[in-house]
Amino acid sequence: MSAHIIDGKAFAANVRAQVSTHIVAIKAQSGKIPGLAVVLVGEDPASQVYVGAKGKQTVEVGMNSYEHKLPADTSEADLLAIVAKLNNDPNVHGILVQLPLPKHLNSDLVINSIDPAKDVDGFHISNVGLLSTGQKAMVPCTPLGSLMMLRDYHGSLSGMNAVVVGRSNIVGKPMAQLLLGDSCTVTIAHSRSRDLAQICKSADILVAAVGRPEMITGDYIKPGATVIDVGINRIERDGKNKLVGDVHYESAAAIAGAITPVPGGVGPMTIACLLANTLTAFCRANGFDEPVGLTA
Ligand code: GUN
Repeated sequence: MSAHIIDGKAFAANVRAQVSTHIVAIKAQSGKIPGLAVVLVGEDPASQVYVGAKGKQTVEVGMNSYEHKLPADTSEADLLAIVAKLNNDPNVHGILVQLPLPKHLNSDLVINSIDPAKDVDGFHISNVGLLSTGQKAMVPCTPLGSLMMLRDYHGSLSGMNAVVVGRSNIVGKPMAQLLLGDSCTVTIAHSRSRDLAQICKSADILVAAVGRPEMITGDYIKPGATVIDVGINRIERDGKNKLVGDVHYESAAAIAGAITPVPGGVGPMTIACLLANTLTAFCRANGFDEPVGLTA
């Protein structure tokens, strides 16, 4: 039997609609509008596409979008000064510095200069610490979106065996923390893990965030498991450019109980959760109730 396809595109549209509804109510009540500032340094083509999509969707849900596009040779001092200005701007509730930064800039230093309350990426060390100690944090968008889809599909995740393949600060580690928070038994594996297929086969929930195209094949998957494919890899096949995940979709879908496709799975959820996080940051800063179902 073929797996249930978890439709991230439709799910993301629903999240954006919820964000939009909250913003209409907030505006009517207070006259205020949440604002998201995105800072892009340099001309990396993929980053330009992401930043463009973020700005467009921010405006579509009714928020203010502030874009700061800076030359590739921007100094660290100038970038830190811009972040400081955004930290102090009452119209800005969320700040995102697009990664990767050019090599001469210290990403950790820049990210940790963002006000943690405005850190809608959830990358600041304060938010990492709050998440890992089970306190109210800003949560990284891709893991948050993955968690939302898992909760929607399963209801409770309590007691399930979850394996996260990948140990990045952006996805793997926060994903593992979130699953632990929902009472899963969590294993973090990675590209160097011995017996990776065996480890993956123990998973009721398998999250692939390893950054290697189609590495996880059907023989890594326990029959009936739920597979969340975080990978976005551009490959060339039969002379054509193709977007594939970290999971080999056809073989995995034949074994899994449910699976996210690429494209149209986790990808669209990332920006939707960025908008949800900006709304959450606004609500926390202004004493409004937090949006139910849009946080961890
Ligand atoms: N570059 C690729 N993904 C992301 C993300 O989620 N946040 C930031 N800041 N940069 C990225």
